Amino acid sequence: MDNWRIEEVLFGNETILQRVKQLGEKISADYKGKELVVVGVLTGSVPFVSDLIRNIDIPMELDFVAVSSYGAATKSSGIVEIRKDLGHSVVNKHVLIIEDIIDTGLTLDYLHKSLKGRNPASVKTCVLLDKPSRREVNVTVDYSGFEIEDRFVVGYGLDYAGHYRNLPYIGVLSAPAD
Ligand code: IMP
Ligand code: MG
Repeated sequence: MDNWRIEEVLFGNETILQRVKQLGEKISADYKGKELVVVGVLTGSVPFVSDLIRNIDIPMELDFVAVSSYGAATKSSGIVEIRKDLGHSVVNKHVLIIEDIIDTGLTLDYLHKSLKGRNPASVKTCVLLDKPSRREVNVTVDYSGFEIEDRFVVGYGLDYAGHYRNLPYIGVLSAPAD
């Protein structure tokens, strides 16, 4: 782990927080008068969800799901399954799924379909980062922070082998020295 380094900072903490504030304001306006349930996808979305909800100024509920992830690799297995389900019913509520990043789209596609099957009033998606060039399935991204190129990024929730989630910025991981 020690020989992995940050090659380049893509988004500093200030930049991230400014964009998250804009997203929060837009979400607050769009969901005004609606029963909103924000569903964070564990674990990567935690810093994003935490900052985002503090910029949402309408009544809302917070819930989390955990799905199978990359594990220690940088490539997707293509297999998605729910490891920790919602704590509360979303029947007749407006669900907003929050993810750190959309890559192939498999995770969000699976979650969107799964939550849609529980009779919510609506299901929409919000991601901090979008890698459109990597998409394998068609998923509508309703709110997106930043589009990025096909590079492996870490920080602000995003991990490599479980590490780097605590960085306050988002950076590109460099190849190991040896
Ligand atoms: P998807 O199902 O391929 O869209 O992948 C979504 C998940 O892959 C995200 O929630 C991340 O956990 C992981 N992921 C995709 N790209 C990156 C990256 O550049 N850095 C860290 N994790 C990533
Ligand atoms: Mg993830």
